[in-house]
This record gives sequence, C-alpha cells and structure tokens, in this order.
Amino acid sequence: MKIIAHRGAPLLAPENTLKSFRLAKESGLVYFELDVHLSKDGQLVVTHDESLKRVTGRDAFVKDLDYKEIFSLDAGEGEKIPLLAEVMKVLGEDTVLNIEIKTDITAYPGIEEKVLSSVKTLWVDWSERVIISSFNFNTLINVRALDETVKIGLLTREFNAEQAERLKAFSLNMSYKRITKDIVNKAKEMGLEVWIYTINNREIFAQMKELGADAVFTDNPYLV
Ligand code: G3P
Ligand code: CA
Repeated sequence: MKIIAHRGAPLLAPENTLKSFRLAKESGLVYFELDVHLSKDGQLVVTHDESLKRVTGRDAFVKDLDYKEIFSLDAGEGEKIPLLAEVMKVLGEDTVLNIEIKTDITAYPGIEEKVLSSVKTLWVDWSERVIISSFNFNTLINVRALDETVKIGLLTREFNAEQAERLKAFSLNMSYKRITKDIVNKAKEMGLEVWIYTINNREIFAQMKELGADAVFTDNPYLV
C-alpha cells in the first residue's frame, strides 16, 4: 500500500507548513496531500480550514485577507501558511501530490483553473504526479471540463459509481469509517484505486490492507 503524508507530517510539525512537508519528505515518503483555498487577492493558500482561527489564532477567513496578511500570521512554531507553489517546490518533482480543493463550504470562483495552471507551470510531469480531489462534486466536474487527462480523486462520504464514471476518476477517496469490502470491490471493478483517510493506528492500517486499499493517508509518516 502507498502511504500518503496527510497535510505533511502534522504529528511532527504544524500541519500544511513547509516544515511539515520537509519532515514528511525526509521520512522517505513519496506521496503527499494538502488542502488549498483562495486568498482575497486570488493566491492558492495551503491550509485546511476556511477560517484561520484554529491554526493561527486570527479570527478571519482566508477569502477575506490578502496573502501578505495571511503570511504575517504564525501557523505554529514560527511557521507560515505557505502557497501551493512553495510547497510544490519543497516537495520536488520526484513526489506525487494529492491537492484537495477545499470548496466544501466556501465557493472560490476560478480556483480549479488556478490550481491546474499552477501545477502545469511548476511540474513538467504533472499529469503523472498530481491528483486533484474535492468533497465538492461540482468542483471536480469543473476540473474535468478544464482538462481531459488530469487524475481526479473522487473524495466522498457516499460512493456513487455514476459520479466516478462522469469524472473518469482515477481514485475513490473515502474515510476508513465508511469504506466497506463491497465498496472496495465495486470501485476496483471500475478500475479505480481506493485511497483511505486518515489512519494513524497500525491496527486500522492492517484492516485497510486486508480490505484491499491501494493507499492510506496518515498524519504519521513513520506509521509503518
Ligand atoms: O483527502 C483526505 C482527507 O484529507 C480529507 O479530509 O478533513 O483531512 O481534509 P480532511
Ligand atoms: Ca485534506
């Protein structure tokens, strides 16, 4: 099974920061995951929540601040909230990156185009090395409309085969709490990889292996 460094190495350094990604890469992992939002001035900002409160203490939304102001905040241990381009530079082109577009609550018009154009500019081998996912099905439809070849991870709480077909999805991304053997079998029949989040426990890791998962997301790059 592939091991995906979820938000970098958040058990070792503040989540979704350059330090977190550096430490995850130092562990030898090749697969990484991060979350992106758009700042007020249209920059692709790597952080998990719509609000900056939990990570930085600042009670404001990413969408309402220019990146300069977001950059001035402390994301923990003196780390900054980075831009997608910076994280991709730190990871380098010998890695594989799952970019989760966080449009679950906030609409970020044009974010799909920005993500695609960014990865195409930054990584020569982007079509093999980038997987775009989102809980928002319409976001994924927009991604597919913009590019016929990009790998799409259908990130969902309920597996819907029709959605996977429409997207020509590469993978089904689901929680270990919701995945079942039936879903794994159905997804594999359709040629989808099965990627499971977020596993920080060896027992659940073993269960997912038994179920036939292709990859697991973890906060602990040294899980296995
Ligand atoms: O992509 C898998 C996982 O990251 C989705 O949940 O809340 O950690 O972004 P969350
Ligand atoms: Ca995520």
